Amino acid sequence: MDASGAQEYDRMQELKAFDETKAGVKGLIDSGLQKIPKIFVRPADELEEELNHKRAQIEVPVIDMGGLDKVDQHKQIVEEVRIASETWGFFQVVNHGIPLNVLDEMLDGILKFNEQDVEEKKKYYTRDNTRRVIFNSNYDLFSSRNASWRDTLTLSFSDPHQNDSKELPALCRKSAVEYSKHVEELGNILLALLSEALGLEPEHLRNMGCAEGHRLTTHYYPECPEPELTLGTAKHSDPGFFTILLQNQINGLQIFFQNQLVDVQPIHGALVINIGDLLQLVSNGKFRSNKHRVVANHLGPRISVACFFSGPINKDKVFYGPIKELISEENPPVYKEVLLQDYIMKFVTAGLDENFLLNYCKA
Ligand code: OGA
Ligand code: NI
Repeated sequence: MDASGAQEYDRMQELKAFDETKAGVKGLIDSGLQKIPKIFVRPADELEEELNHKRAQIEVPVIDMGGLDKVDQHKQIVEEVRIASETWGFFQVVNHGIPLNVLDEMLDGILKFNEQDVEEKKKYYTRDNTRRVIFNSNYDLFSSRNASWRDTLTLSFSDPHQNDSKELPALCRKSAVEYSKHVEELGNILLALLSEALGLEPEHLRNMGCAEGHRLTTHYYPECPEPELTLGTAKHSDPGFFTILLQNQINGLQIFFQNQLVDVQPIHGALVINIGDLLQLVSNGKFRSNKHRVVANHLGPRISVACFFSGPINKDKVFYGPIKELISEENPPVYKEVLLQDYIMKFVTAGLDENFLLNYCKA
C-alpha cells in the first residue's frame, strides 16, 4: 500500500477505535488528554481559509413575542419575523411563553445525562437511526473530513405512539417530556407567524404538516484543549422546516451573514429560531436557510438543544414543493417537488453537505 493509502487505513482504525469506546469526546477529556487526536483536526486548507473569515460585530435580531395577542403588536411581530427570515434566516425570541425553569431543567437534564457514569451512558450509544433514543459522537463520523468536538443525544417525538416516555433516559426524561410539550406549542405559534410573514393564512404551514413530530437533538460540547484546530459542529444548514434552539451561556454558535461571521450571543431565557432548507424550498427561496456552525472552546461544557421540525417523516408519500400561492410567472419555481422520506434519507447519507439544497432540489 502506498503512503497515502496507509494513512487512510490508520485514520479508519482510529475512527473505529474512538467509536468503540462509546464514551464520546467527553471520554477523551476525562482521560486527561492535552492535545486533540488527529481525527478531530481540520484539513490544512480549511484551517488556512479560516484566517480569511471576517467577523462582524452585529447581532441577530431579537424579537419580543410578548404582545402577540394585541392587534398592532401582532402585525409588528409578523413584520419583524418576515424581515429576519428573508435576510438572516435566524432570530432570537424572548417572551415566547416557555417558562424559564422548563428551559433550565432541560439543559440540566442533558448535563446530567452526559456527566453520569459512562457505563450507564454507553447503553444508549448507537448508530441505528431507527431508534427513538440515539447517543453517539458525530453522526457522520465515518463520512466527514474530520470529526467534531461534540457528543449528541437525540430524542425523537415523531410518532403518536411515542408518547410513552419510559424509553427515554431517566436523568433527562421528565425535563425532556415537559420541554417537548412546550416547544411543540411554540412551534405552532411560530408556524402561524411564518405563514403570515409569507402572506398566507395563519394555518397554512401547519396544515402542510410542518410541525408534525419533532426531534430533540441535544449537544454536549466539552472543553477543548486546542479549539483552533477543530470545530464543535461543521458549517451546515438545517434540513427541516425550522429549528428552535436552546443554548446555555457558553458561546460557540456562529452564522454566516453577508460573507461575515456573526456570533449568536446566548441570552438567558431566549430561544434561537432558524429557517431550515425545507422552508426555503416551500417558500420558493423567499425565506433563507442560513449556514451556521459551532466553534470549539477552551471553556465547557457548552450545551444546546436543537428541536428540529422536519414534517411527518414517518408517513409515506408526503411531497413538498414551492407553495402554489407563492409562484407566478414572475416568480417561477426555483426548487422541484421532493418526497420527504427520500429527502431526509439523502440528507442523512450526505453528511453535513454545505450545498445540500442546491445539489438535490434545484428545479
Ligand atoms: C444543529 C446546530 C447549534 C448548536 O444541531 O443543527 O446547528 O448550538 N446546533 O449546537
Ligand atoms: Ni444547525
